[in-house]
Amino acid sequence: MEGTKHDGWASRWGMILAMAGSAVGLGNFLRFPVQASQNGGGAFIIPYLVSLVILGIPLMWMEWAMGRYGGAFTRGSLPSVFHLLWPRRVAKYLGGIGILLTFVVSVYYVYIESWSLAYSFFALTGRFERITEHTQMASFLKGFQGLERNEFFQGGGWAYFFLLVTLVINLWILSRGISKGIEWFSKLAMPLLFFMGLVLVVRVFSLGSPFRPDWNLNAALGFLWNPDFKALTNPGVWLAAAGQVFFTLSLGWGQILTYATYLHKNDDIALSGLTAVSLNEACEVILGASIGIIAAYLFFGPQMTVEIAKGGSFDLGFVSMPVIFTQIPAGRLFAFFWFLLLFFAGITSSIALIQPSVHFLASAFDMDSTRASSIVGVVMFACVQPVYFFLGKGYLDELDFIAGTMGIVFFGLIEVVLFVWVFGANRAWKEITRDNDIAVPSFFKPLLTWVTPVALLVLLLAWCVKEAPAFLFFEGIPKEHIGTRWAARAFVLVMFSVICVLIKLKKERLTQMTALEVPE
Ligand code: PHE
Repeated sequence: MEGTKHDGWASRWGMILAMAGSAVGLGNFLRFPVQASQNGGGAFIIPYLVSLVILGIPLMWMEWAMGRYGGAFTRGSLPSVFHLLWPRRVAKYLGGIGILLTFVVSVYYVYIESWSLAYSFFALTGRFERITEHTQMASFLKGFQGLERNEFFQGGGWAYFFLLVTLVINLWILSRGISKGIEWFSKLAMPLLFFMGLVLVVRVFSLGSPFRPDWNLNAALGFLWNPDFKALTNPGVWLAAAGQVFFTLSLGWGQILTYATYLHKNDDIALSGLTAVSLNEACEVILGASIGIIAAYLFFGPQMTVEIAKGGSFDLGFVSMPVIFTQIPAGRLFAFFWFLLLFFAGITSSIALIQPSVHFLASAFDMDSTRASSIVGVVMFACVQPVYFFLGKGYLDELDFIAGTMGIVFFGLIEVVLFVWVFGANRAWKEITRDNDIAVPSFFKPLLTWVTPVALLVLLLAWCVKEAPAFLFFEGIPKEHIGTRWAARAFVLVMFSVICVLIKLKKERLTQMTALEVPE
């Protein structure tokens, strides 16, 4: 295990790129433009920026600070860090929730990510090249996912194959450890991602008006950015903006915290954290908002684009975009870039999602990263089976709702309360502001102490009220899917029990650790 303890980031840039990679994901390129276009266009950016300042940045610094502190005084996995901050038995189990959430999300995230790998392969081999119709491309996707047999696919074999390949690549990277695995890969993937993103933006901006003169770039930009200020009085828009900030920065999952445990005790967090956030925002507001929705507008016009946005992020990415690429010169290449970009965005996030589990096993049971990743890999392999086989029955959606939507806000709230209120606002503030290359403005202290937790609580309550009937009474869920939904819930419970048992087994070590002198 000493291997994991001494493994750490080899360079500052590598670490920042890995952190940025964990934040830049499918959400930047698919979720953000859809959310913005549905929630007031340009006016969305106001609640978005407000949420970034009062929720995003303070929570981000907080997670970095918790991780740096925990990494300096423990073996660093989430339960240990939480226990260090609050030396009560229950704290370890609260930390376990972070491992649970990241693990559960990783199980379905790798599947979605594998679609983009498969599609980049199909793009290169020209498999969907002749499809120029939306409905046909939608059948292509369904056939690929094994949801229907059609002229394109006779079963979900390809999807299964790419799922396995994606799983193996993820675990192979993780088995190589932090500097030789995660950092090495991020240094490779992130610049490529930026490059492909830029190429695609330039291509989309130079498309002209392929079908109608009024479906031009100006109108497309106006569609996304012209503010509808009335939207600001709608609380739903504020919720959506706060939710997007949370999602895009990967806050409240425990993965930033885990990455930060590999920092050195006196490493800067303020400037590095802000740089990672800025890279994410560049990928979101500049690149993400300039590719998908804009291209859809130029090709399909305003009405259809509204429909596409309503259809959700996947329709935009896996149905509309390939239809566009099949109609432009050198479309194969651009389609390949688009899906490879999504794949890189996805995989730099999924390795961050799986790492808390790998790190937990490694530190709790004295394993090296190869052994821990192999075990996590075997468990993941078993857990992705229902995700794959019950895709059409809402298994993935249920996991996404429990862990990816509600869970993260809940866990984010636990983190803030633990760090700022239990550990103590003054100590927390000292931790956040020490040894930095830039000063953290002092107004962030009251913000983090009061405004951020209250905002999180409001967000959590609002979502509970909004979603509770659907969740409790399966509203809007077809009867024949309810069994699958229960299975997903049972899976989350079983996983949490397993994690709790493992935490209990490593009790000895935690007790020893608290005997360490905990710095004031
Ligand atoms: N931040 C990612 C995105 O924007 C989403 C994500 C969150 C992925 C947490 C992994 C973990 O897509």
